[in-house]
Amino acid sequence: MSDPHPPVSGGSNRRVLIIAIAVVAVIAAAAVVTFVALTPTPTPVAAPTRTPSATPTPTPTPTPTPTPTFDRAKFSNDDASSLWVVANKQRPLNPTSYEPNLVFVDVPYVYEPYLTPDAAAAVVEMFAAFTAETGLQMQSQSSYRSYWSQESVYAGWVSSLGQEAADLTSARPGHSEHQTGLSIDVSARPANCTLEQCFGDTAQGQWLAANGWKYGFTVRYPLGKTDITGYEYEPWHMRFVGKALATELHSTGIQTLEEFFGLPAAPTYG
Ligand code: DAL
Ligand code: ZN
Repeated sequence: MSDPHPPVSGGSNRRVLIIAIAVVAVIAAAAVVTFVALTPTPTPVAAPTRTPSATPTPTPTPTPTPTPTFDRAKFSNDDASSLWVVANKQRPLNPTSYEPNLVFVDVPYVYEPYLTPDAAAAVVEMFAAFTAETGLQMQSQSSYRSYWSQESVYAGWVSSLGQEAADLTSARPGHSEHQTGLSIDVSARPANCTLEQCFGDTAQGQWLAANGWKYGFTVRYPLGKTDITGYEYEPWHMRFVGKALATELHSTGIQTLEEFFGLPAAPTYG
């Protein structure tokens, strides 16, 4: 009997079939690989996060930041005639016998007031603003003092308080900013707490501390700065430095001229 599937031709067919299956399998595998390769990777979705409950952030305390454009070297701190002169126990006036140009200050007063022209005009403007805003009055207690009048004022304090206490409230002659014609002691009118620290609690003292800068003044001997200025708190002593510097002191919160200009503290005479 003859084999219905002769070995030669039958074996050949099976090989063809096997090859065909293999080719189809390879093509299918390639298609799967291609599909996987071409399927775009999904964009990762951020895992949802729980919104944290609000933790109160403390308001940072503003650090006094000087205005970068403010030129601290614009005027001398050393020359007695300079708007920005700094006199203290370590820094006598130069020259010690300095006498400024003075004009009468047209405001109510106890002792006839004289200051440099710019300081005088600023005092008139400041006193008028105070009265316009509050209906109250203030007056000049003491303003320009010559070397010789400072000598007599200082001697008076020494005889009443002793030298150690006098040095905390009165400058020795040649060291007082009153001699520059840029400083004024202000008192209430009618008088109330004149040349006493309670002046700082009066309407006049409060207003000067809050508004003096607008007219070019600074409270030269602030509370708590005795180690730097050499003097106890004098809320009545206003020093004219001009509007630019007074505004800069106000906006930075730097309270003393020594700190602002980087000058050594002057708690005692050198
Ligand atoms: N009272 C201030 C320090 C002066 O005598 O100049
Ligand atoms: Zn004074």
